[in-house]
Formats: sequence, C-alpha cells, structure tokens
Amino acid sequence: MLTQEENDFLTQVGPGTPAGALLRRYWLPVGVHEELSAEHPTKFVRVLGEDLVLFKDKSGRVGLLADHCSHRGASLLYGRVEERGISCAYHGWLYDCEGNILETPPERNDAIMRSVKHTAYPVQSFIGLYWAYMGPSPAPVIPHYDVWVRTDGHRNRYVQPQLDANWLQPMENSVDPAHLQILHQTVIGRGRTPVSTTRGFTDDVESYEFYLNDFGIVKKRTYANGTVDYHPLIFPNILRQGNATQIRVPIDDEHTRIFFVRFTPTEDGSVVDDPDGLPVEFIPSYKQPADRLHPFTKFTMESVQPQDHMAWETQGPRANRATEHLSYSDRGVVLYRRVLKENIERVAQGLDPFGLVRDPDHETIDTNLMESIAQQREGSSARAPTRAPAQA
Ligand code: FES
Ligand SMILES: [Fe+2]
Repeated sequence: MLTQEENDFLTQVGPGTPAGALLRRYWLPVGVHEELSAEHPTKFVRVLGEDLVLFKDKSGRVGLLADHCSHRGASLLYGRVEERGISCAYHGWLYDCEGNILETPPERNDAIMRSVKHTAYPVQSFIGLYWAYMGPSPAPVIPHYDVWVRTDGHRNRYVQPQLDANWLQPMENSVDPAHLQILHQTVIGRGRTPVSTTRGFTDDVESYEFYLNDFGIVKKRTYANGTVDYHPLIFPNILRQGNATQIRVPIDDEHTRIFFVRFTPTEDGSVVDDPDGLPVEFIPSYKQPADRLHPFTKFTMESVQPQDHMAWETQGPRANRATEHLSYSDRGVVLYRRVLKENIERVAQGLDPFGLVRDPDHETIDTNLMESIAQQREGSSARAPTRAPAQA
C-alpha cells in the first residue's frame, strides 16, 4: 500500500514531477517512421504530459517542438514544412528543429528572434522509430540492447492500441510473474484444463525469484518440470520478453503508448541488409467501444494482450495504491517501486539514474535474447507455458 503522496511521486509524469524528471533522462520513442511522410509531414504527440509536434522538414530533418506557437499559440501541427523548418500556419513564424525562430512575419523582429527560444527536443531516428530526449544536456545514448542492434535477422515493430491507464500499471505487471498462469490461463493451457479456474496453471510453477542486473530487474520463473524462464524489466519503462522489447511511453498521467520491437534471428546467422525494413503494424483496439473507459467499454479478452490491457485499465486511469493489499507474490512489484523511488531521488540529487548509458561505443548489451527465444521454442513444443506473441 502507498499513501496518496507516494502514489503521486511514482506515477505523475508531467514537467516538474519527480518521476517525470527520471523518465526525461532516457531516450523515448515518440513515433514510427511511417507516421511522417511528404503528404503528412507533421504529427501531434503528447509525451510525458507535454503537447508536441513531430515534423520532418523539407531537408529531411526531424524535429519535436512544443505544439503552441510562441507568437500567439496556434498549433504547429498545421504548420507548413519548409527547407529550414516549420512555419506556423497563422502568421508564418518559422522555426528550425532546435526551436530557433528564423523569421517573424510580417515584420522582422530581431529582439524576438534573439531572445525567444521555442521548446524543442532532439530527435533521433533509430530502428524505424523516432526517439526523443526531453531531459537536461548532455543527452545519454540509446543503449545497444541486443534486440535493437543485432543485424543477423529482422526487426518487427508493432504499435499497441492506446492504453488508457498510467504507465506504472504495465510496468508493475512486468514484475508480476504470478498473473501469467491465472489471467492468461485460457491462452497458455493449449488444450489442458486447469485444476481450477481460481488457480489456473499456478501449480506449473515451482518458484519465482527477482534480482537486479546491470540494466534492470530479472524475474525468473522455475517450473515444476525443471524449465526456467527469465523476463527482464529494463529500467525504467521496458519489458524484455521472448524476442521482444515492450517500450511503455507515458503520454500523460492516464495514457500510455506502447511500442513493441521484436527481433527474429536468421536460422544460419546471416546478416540482413535492412533488418528494420519490415512495415510497422498498428494493432486494432482490444476493446469496444475503443474510445471509452471501463465500465463503458468491453475488452475482447481473446489473447494475452487484451487480457493485460483489461487488467491495467480496470485498475483505474491511475491506480489508487492507497487501497491495495499486497501479498508475498507481489514482492517483485515492491522491489521495482523501491528501485524506482531510489532512482527518482538520484535524479533529484543531480546523479545519473540506473541503466543510463553515455559511451556511444559501448558493447552490445546482452538481454538474454537467445536464451529467451530458445526457452520460448522449448516451451511451445514441450510444455507450452508461454506463447510467442505478446505476453508479460
Ligand atoms: S500564432 Fe503562430 S505565427 Fe502567430
Ligand atoms: Fe500478462
């Protein structure tokens, strides 16, 4: 159980909030390549409670600017992209990707051009995603996790339907291994009938362990038949499971955008010309109506992800942890909250948080990818405790 203040401390993401300051220390995906084109060069994105416009100018540079024009606030979503940046549709103020004001029609106002700097965040294009860094300089680097940098296979990108819930709910789920055998029992049984629907396949599992490694929290399940699986949580906002990373990006305190990046190695280890060349897939809504909240919508519950989205959204737009009752099997959740709190405090002290990488030439980071893939194959042929697509 947390107090309301502790809950706010861990969950709120807007400017000036403690958890928001932590999350701003990491590069976050804010869009996929297909979302910007010559026909549609601008896209509205809300990230960490900030309203922003992602755009590609006619020189091919990609920028991320505050939505409201610095002149009198019209949205830059409707701006016209040009060689040097984006020009507000209302009176034409022209911005470059760094937020410099290059023109102020109808007059030339040097004082404004010198003194006003529009909010702008650096953007990187990497593995078919646009990544933004919204924290203080100097920016770290995007870590070289094996799933993201290997070239001996194909990467697939999926964008989940918007999660209408706070980011911490899916993250806590990532260190909650017990739910797999219960919430997902209709999917993982594959013909078997559970002892009871209350316990699901809980008795398949002998033990759970949690420990910290260099980049996050590993949750380890040991099954009664001797097999073991590991689902690392990459701190602070990524689940590594199977061949995927599930990257949870807070839109604001009550909404989250989730990007899946999967890596499938070639059988013979051969390098692929364009590992990121496969088209992105936008997953349709898991609930009907798609734009309503519980209890005014119904989740399909037909596979793992809709089941997870049901659990996360029905906890509430921002779960009230003052009324929860944690049990022994929630110790991974407790550990994650402790690590999160400690790192929020590190950032408040001006220190780098857990997992931040600054060396651009660092070695590829092994996230247990090959073992996870082997375990998943073994699981699906022998015992089927897991399912390849999308679980937690
Ligand atoms: S509101 Fe954008 S130029 Fe006037
Ligand atoms: Fe799950």
